[in-house]
Amino acid sequence: MGVTIRGAVLHDGWLDAAAQAAMVEDLRGVLAVAPLVRPVTPSGKRMSVGMSAAGRFGWITDSRGYRYEERHPNGVEWPPIPASVLAVWEALCPEARAPECCLLNWYAEGAKMGMHQDRDEADFDQPVLSISLGDEALFRIGNHTRGGKTESVWLRSGDVLVMGGDARLRYHGIDRVKPGSSPLLPNGGRINLTLRVVT
Ligand code: SIN
Ligand code: FE2
Repeated sequence: MGVTIRGAVLHDGWLDAAAQAAMVEDLRGVLAVAPLVRPVTPSGKRMSVGMSAAGRFGWITDSRGYRYEERHPNGVEWPPIPASVLAVWEALCPEARAPECCLLNWYAEGAKMGMHQDRDEADFDQPVLSISLGDEALFRIGNHTRGGKTESVWLRSGDVLVMGGDARLRYHGIDRVKPGSSPLLPNGGRINLTLRVVT
């Protein structure tokens, strides 16, 4: 069942080492088609996280704003979501609609993600499911408005976090990644996948 933090359900160690390694191989295939981009926020700041996506839509940001697009900025269609990734959604979100976006966030050493809501989707009744691979990350979750008290948890390689219900619109972010904390990726770093229903 997993532990709950502010309504988000953490299934720690959901993926074993072999499943993590197989998923990383699948993601290398995604990145060969849709390479990582470090996007710029509408205010002009370059994000420290590198991004790509799979599925019908990818989430992007640039000077025109945050949005979902059916193509990578280089013009190619996003590759399909790997079956290994879809299987996690089907196991943990059986009532939900099929995910239309698998956003891939890449955290090299020093990368982080500021507190934000995931709110560019049309249907907030659908959960967001997050998969962590590689180095451990300090995840912070707060409230439905910016500010106030927050709680933090380390997300480890193979952990899956489901943000649905009351947690769906909570502010959350990644404060830091602990270098060298996982043997999964030969050169270190962290991959986070978030599966979303967009329409
Ligand atoms: C996100 O909120 O988009 C990423 C969360 C994470 O990296 O764990
Ligand atoms: Fe998010």
